[in-house]
Amino acid sequence: MAVHSAQLGKPETTQSVQGAVPRHVAIIMDGNGRWAQQRNLPRLEGHSAGISNVRPIIEHFVEYKVKYLTLYAFSTENWNRPEEEVNGLIQFLASAIQRETKSLHERGVRLRHLGRLDRLPKDVQASIQEAVELTKSNDVITVCLAFDYGGRAEILQAVQRIVRKGVDPDSIDEALLSRYLYTDGIPDPDLIIRTAGEMRLSNFLIWQSAYSEYYFTSKPWPDFDSEEIRKSLLAYSQRQRRFGGIGV
Ligand code: IPE
Ligand code: IPE
Ligand code: MG
Repeated sequence: MAVHSAQLGKPETTQSVQGAVPRHVAIIMDGNGRWAQQRNLPRLEGHSAGISNVRPIIEHFVEYKVKYLTLYAFSTENWNRPEEEVNGLIQFLASAIQRETKSLHERGVRLRHLGRLDRLPKDVQASIQEAVELTKSNDVITVCLAFDYGGRAEILQAVQRIVRKGVDPDSIDEALLSRYLYTDGIPDPDLIIRTAGEMRLSNFLIWQSAYSEYYFTSKPWPDFDSEEIRKSLLAYSQRQRRFGGIGV
């Protein structure tokens, strides 16, 4: 894959950073629970604060001309949390989609969903599908919402669909498998950011992250802001990506 070499622009509300801008940034939005605990608030208050932070963060990445932004909001493992937290998270997602879709559409945002839809309530499934359909021709930025997403489940369902279709084993290559993933048509993430201090992928984009760069910050997701974005993009611009070669 070619190294994307567009220059970081000079956003109006953020300090500029010289150097290569990632085409696709993917974020593991972690630390909502700890953010709430530190304030003696219920965990759901942390999720509410986290969801409120999504819109401004999208705007900042638009200013930097990032073309794809993937947000890990709910993993296949997050079903193991207490029912009250799971239901709260799903409800927050549903209301955020209902509240924001129109203005995201006007802003030129294309929405995609990565993950399983079938385990979500029917009305939430419908809201997601409507938002994806409404915004499908927009081209300012593509925002992929990873909700009920798991990297291993994604690869498994791809294999099942390939086998079910009777695809000739000799014609299966990396490009073909990629087309059966939820991320079909979306370039691999150049930069993966994880907030709140953990240094693991937690089943996020495990196929697509083969050559991603990583940026970790101790800040919990509700506190992730324009300054953190600037730092993450600065760090990215200083990396030398070799893709197994010997560099320049
Ligand atoms: C991230 O915050 C949101 C989800 C995983 C849904 P957490 O809820 O994991 O917050 P911590 O890690 O417990 O602080
Ligand atoms: C990863 O966070 C999933 C999301 C941010 C949606 P978790 O909090 O679920 O990850 P672990 O359990 O610490 O690995
Ligand atoms: Mg967590």
